[in-house]
Amino acid sequence: MTDKKKLKRDTITSHAGRDPLRFDGVVNTPVYRASTVLFPDVESYQGRDPDDYKVMRYGIYGTPTTFALEEAVAQLEGGHAAVALPSGLAGIVAALAAFARSGAHILIADSVYQPTRNFCDKRLRPLGVDIEYYDPLIGLAIAGLIRPETTAVFCESPGSHTFEMQDIPAIAAAAHAKDIPVLVDTTWGTPYFFRAFEHGVDISIHAGTKYISGHSDVMMGIVVTNERYWLTLRRAVADYGYCVSPDDCYLALRGLRTIGVRMRQQQQSALKIARWLQARPEVLRVLYPALEGDPGHTIWKRDFSGAASLFGVILKPVSDQAVTALVDSLDLFGIGSSWGGFESLAIRAYPEKYRSATQWNPGGPLLRLHIGLEDPDDLISDLEQGFAQMHRAG
Ligand SMILES: Cc1ncc(COP(=O)(O)O)c(C=O)c1O
Repeated sequence: MTDKKKLKRDTITSHAGRDPLRFDGVVNTPVYRASTVLFPDVESYQGRDPDDYKVMRYGIYGTPTTFALEEAVAQLEGGHAAVALPSGLAGIVAALAAFARSGAHILIADSVYQPTRNFCDKRLRPLGVDIEYYDPLIGLAIAGLIRPETTAVFCESPGSHTFEMQDIPAIAAAAHAKDIPVLVDTTWGTPYFFRAFEHGVDISIHAGTKYISGHSDVMMGIVVTNERYWLTLRRAVADYGYCVSPDDCYLALRGLRTIGVRMRQQQQSALKIARWLQARPEVLRVLYPALEGDPGHTIWKRDFSGAASLFGVILKPVSDQAVTALVDSLDLFGIGSSWGGFESLAIRAYPEKYRSATQWNPGGPLLRLHIGLEDPDDLISDLEQGFAQMHRAG
């Protein structure tokens, strides 16, 4: 009998979350649509265990389609269990809310995804939660910020606009010494390239909208926890009434089956394009931890087994109009939110607008590129003509 704990990640993505013998031999767990679930008698209906979130009892708690996705992601990442939510942001909200109460103190990395900050400032603060932003590069020194009323440390590594790598094992060591849980937005690392639980993470939050689904057609959050924090998180999700459609779970699980080949290919193309950009006269710096020489490279190499295809490009100072001309002239890069799909994207980013604990002075305008599955040479040609347009406009 195969020991499931020893399986490599590509075997897990092919096999986890399916049980064909249970579904008439069908390879993929079918789409189960359900609100009401019927029970054979009063005793079995009344005897339901409220903390057993992996059996059918009412549609809001999921169906076999939901459970299949949750099980596959948890197994790939090496966590205890997972819960699917309607968006990545809903995953962040539920995870933070699970540790929020009036008088609680929560530490948030200054580099977080802006809507995370928005939720903390606009929703948690008015309820009496003390939100403190910290330098993402703080490492072990986070110990000095932890107070008796601290209930959680929230990280995002790397930050999805500035690509600063956090030393998660060091932060976790400091937080755990005071029995504080560490919550991490691991969307960039994915459960494929970052086995969060081996690095001290207690709760790992994914925008499944990105690489897990992978095809720009699903909104999804997936939060994975260790055993200790499973019920804390899962009960909060239940209390907030979050649930996800089985069709979306089916699509996300279909995406997960190919996450390995997609991510390896996208990483290879991203590296090629990032290196080409580094050599361009218009570029000041490329923010990509997978590049040798990036300030986060050592941590990335130590903790991750690969890199997402999302990175930043700081241009040498140039007019706003010229940067806009560059982005507008790109044919193969779409302009739009999100990332992790099969298609390339380019946006301008302004992280300096949101920092509060630290300063972000990159020295020039920042572009964020997501590299999809197109041929990288075509993408390079597109960027090359984009730079020509930038010079004409600038
Ligand atoms: C780092 C990061 N976390 C979370 C999210 C939120 O995901 P969603 O768009 O599914 O709400 C995003 C979305 O862009 C993101 O970039």
